[in-house]
Amino acid sequence: MKIVVASDHAGVELRQEMADEARALGHEVTDLGPAPGVAIDYPVNGAKVGRLVAAGEYDLGMLVCGTGVGISIAANKIPGIRAVVCSEPFTARLSRQHNNSNVLAVGARVVGPGLARMIVNDWLTAEFEGGRHARRVALIDDLENPPASS
Ligand code: RB5
Repeated sequence: MKIVVASDHAGVELRQEMADEARALGHEVTDLGPAPGVAIDYPVNGAKVGRLVAAGEYDLGMLVCGTGVGISIAANKIPGIRAVVCSEPFTARLSRQHNNSNVLAVGARVVGPGLARMIVNDWLTAEFEGGRHARRVALIDDLENPPASS
């Protein structure tokens, strides 16, 4: 898959760790930065990754900030984005299988590099199960595009 990754200044090292894990799994990874020592506000890169994934230029996105919270909130403002903050692999896996999450956010001040790699591994190897879950995800989509009332 084509994966785009980005962070704020708090998430640089963990972002690189997660990008490496995705590459090790055989994915094509584009890293939008920032470089070490460059400060960037998390909404900027959260929205950037969200827009690229929503536009279909990338299959999935991964984001890192201090907690993973701010950058996921920003990404979730982009229609079509289902961003999840995960601190353990179980939620990451289920977010793909049941919620068809398309952006993973992790907190660099919360999760260490080894656990982050496990989270990425579970997230990227899980697949959306469809079925009843597809109906529920469609209900989420409806919140962005309410069906015209008859
Ligand atoms: C930056 O200091 C910090 O606020 C940010 O990385 C993130 O934790 C926000 O949610």
